[in-house]
Order: sequence, then structure tokens, then C-alpha cells
Amino acid sequence: MTSALITITSGRVSKFLTRRIGFLSLSSGFSKFHSTYCSLFNAMATKEALLSVLSEPTTQTGNKVTVVGVGQVGMACAFSILSQGVSTDVVLVDVVADKLQGELLDLQHGSLFLKNPKINASTDYAVTAGSKMCVVTAGVRQKEGESRLDLVQRNTDVLKFIIPNLIKYSPDTILLIVANPVDILTYVAWKLSGLPVNKVFGSGTNLDTSRFRFLLSKKLGVAPSSVHGWIIGEHGDSSVAVWSGVNIAGVNLRDINPKIGTDDDPENWKELHKEVVNAAYDVIKLKGYTSWAIGLSVASLVNSVIHNSHNVHAVSTYIKGSHGIDSEVFLSLPAVLGANGITEIVQQKLTDEEKEALENSASVMKEGIHGVEDDIFLSVPSALGDSGVSKVVIQPLNEEEHEALLKSAKLITEVQKSLNL
Ligand SMILES: NC(=O)c1ccc[n+]([C@@H]2O[C@H](COP(=O)([O-])OP(=O)(O)OC[C@H]3O[C@@H](n4cnc5c(N)ncnc54)[C@H](O)[C@@H]3O)[C@@H](O)[C@H]2O)c1
Repeated sequence: MTSALITITSGRVSKFLTRRIGFLSLSSGFSKFHSTYCSLFNAMATKEALLSVLSEPTTQTGNKVTVVGVGQVGMACAFSILSQGVSTDVVLVDVVADKLQGELLDLQHGSLFLKNPKINASTDYAVTAGSKMCVVTAGVRQKEGESRLDLVQRNTDVLKFIIPNLIKYSPDTILLIVANPVDILTYVAWKLSGLPVNKVFGSGTNLDTSRFRFLLSKKLGVAPSSVHGWIIGEHGDSSVAVWSGVNIAGVNLRDINPKIGTDDDPENWKELHKEVVNAAYDVIKLKGYTSWAIGLSVASLVNSVIHNSHNVHAVSTYIKGSHGIDSEVFLSLPAVLGANGITEIVQQKLTDEEKEALENSASVMKEGIHGVEDDIFLSVPSALGDSGVSKVVIQPLNEEEHEALLKSAKLITEVQKSLNL
């Protein structure tokens, strides 16, 4: 009976069944074999009767995105990427196999409502092979009362395992670092990866900028997408609000209120930046972690790279040469993101006063780092396309903003110097 059945099956099915039969005849009795065989046969026969094959389907989508870490942030990133159709090929990696499998199944069960994506997961990095982009969210997060910088050594150790594995399977990938402290860890990832600097960037102040624009929008009664303003520098306590550039439809708020964002402002707009700085602490205090906003922020960055959109985002990148900073410094500035990563830092026109303040601040920073040419990542508004960040915007900063930016750089330099890489 067996051989008769095999002879009526054809091609690949026949070879496949022969392999299964060989295995089953060694490991189980005939009746188990018979029912398994029949169900396989029936399933394959039905498929073959339904679909006549013209060519083998390709497994390459060209938009594969790996998310490492399936905690609150990783899953919010994956969900945003999938639900917005940013990528149709998403891979999850984590060290906790059960959680990974649970998250995989939960997402796969929603496939009908997505764009028919491929979703895979494994603790083995082989599953990540050929990723266009890898998003790293793995690591510990702040507990209440902890600053992002408190996490640095623990998450550096996590990256020492993750980054070489990602590069092994996707040597041309673009790395997007999200784990905190993101500016330091982006620097660490860049060092560990051996990738060119355009292909490694951090989520930086893309999220802080979103928080800033949301708060401005509430105060003005205008949608966040119509309120233009940037947070640059460190994604953290020393971030810089670029009040000189805040505008709606090209109307600069500083032209209306020259004291906006300063301590002397009777309307105290500066308070909004304090709210941005405290936002993560406030959310962590209330729900234990932050997730949705960072997930959406990351999806926007991935979208700019995968779709080579050349959007400008504030991301953590190498900013030597910007704002008169001539040491190897990484900060968040507006950058253009494209298929090749960061392609440009946008060169904004600076007033003479701002230029002078910038140059002065740059030399203060150089003194601050004692002439050591350390590599620093902080967040800068950048443009994204399918090669990652393509440009970084050089914003006109006033003296106060530039001083704050350099303070961020100095702080990051000190922490990086203490890292044992
Ligand atoms: N850049 C930002 O704007 C931003 C915003 C929010 C949170 N974060 C940071 O993102 C990180 C993750 O936060 P979370 O809330 O998702 O934490 P979480 O504890 O919920 O999840 C962390 C995940 O990382 C996994 N992990 C740990 N070590 C790993 C390894 N070696 N390989 C693979 N996976 C590993 C854990 O198993 C866990 O699933 C934290 O560092 C947090 O501070 C950054």
C-alpha cells in the first residue's frame, strides 16, 4: 500500500514523503505512520491540486527589520512597524525563549489585519540574516529614580554580545540603537560593529522632539505636525530645546516673544522643555516603563530608512564638524536619513551672534574634554532614508542653547571615557 501511494504522488511531494516514511518507520508503529502519512499526503495533495507551480516563491523581501529585545520597548517598536506597514518582514530576537515565542504567536495571530507580513523569532541570530535594519532595544531600563546614565555599564555588556552577532549575519545592515543611555550605547555599538559612521545611529532626541512638539501644540492649539521645533543634544537630562527655531508656518515665536525659552520670559515657555526632560520619569512613575511613544518614534526612523525617504529627524550621530565642534563628538542634530544611513547634516544658516556663540562654545568643550578626541553620540535632528541617516541639520543655536549642547557633550565624553571597551 505504501509503495502504491508513493508512486501516485509526484515530484517534490514524493521525495518528501519518502524521507518522512524513512524516519517514521524507525521511530513508530505502522498505524501511527499510516495516519501521519495519510494526513501529510492529503494536505500536500490538496495543495498541489489547488496550486500549479510556475516558479519557487522568493523568501527575500528586501525590507527585513530585526528587533532585538522583546520587552515593552521592543514590542512597541515591532507593533508600530508592522501595524503601519513600514516593513513586511520582521524578526524578533531575545534571550528569553518562552516570552519570544509568546510574542511571536500573538503577533502572527493578527496577521490578517496587517499587510500579510513575514514574522519570525528566535534566540539564534541566524534568523536575522540579511536584515536591512536592526533595532536594538535589549537591555535593562531605568527604575524609578534612576537616570539613563545609571544603565551604561550593564547595557554596554549586553551590546558586546548582540552587536557582533547582528553584524555576523547582516554585515551591511543599518543599526538603530534604542536602549539607554542611547547616546553612549550608539557610540559603543558603532565601535563594536566596525560599520561606517553613517550606518549606526541612535533614536536620540527624535522622541524628545515629538514630546516637545506635542506640548507646544497643546499650548498653541495647533497640531504637532504644524508646530516646528527641535530638541537636540543628549537624549536625557541635558537635552537642548532650540527655542530660536520654534515656528508655526514660518512665523518664529522668538520674533513675537524675544524672551521665549529664557528665564526672563514672563510666559514661562521654558517650562515645556522641563516637561520634556521629565517626561520619561513621569511616565515611568505612573506605569513603570515607557513604550508607545518610543515605538512610534522608532517606526518613523525605520520608515525613513526602509523607504529611502530623506526625512529629517533628530537622531544620535557623529557631529564632528557641525556647530564648530572639531572633536569626534556624537550628538543629536537634524540629519537626513536615507538608504545609506545618515547622508547629510543639514546646514542651517546661523546668525553672526549664534555663530560666535557656537565657536566659543566649541572651544570651551574642547578644553572640557582635555584635548582628548573622544567619540560621542548624542541626538541631532537628521534626515532618514533606506540607508539610515543621510543628513544632519546644523541648527542656528543661541549662546544658551549651544552651551547646553556642549554640556551634554562633555557629560557623555566623561561617561564614555569610563567605559571599558
Ligand atoms: N531611546 C529611548 O528613547 C528609550 C525609550 C524608552 C526606553 N528605552 C530603553 O530601552 C531599553 C528596553 O526597555 P524595556 O522597557 O523594553 O525593557 P524590558 O525589561 O521590558 O525589556 C528588555 C528586553 O531585553 C531582553 N534582553 C536582555 N538582554 C538581552 C540580550 N543579551 N539579548 C537579547 N535580548 C536581551 C530582555 O529579555 C527583555 O525582553 C532600556 O534600556 C530602556 O531604558 C529607550
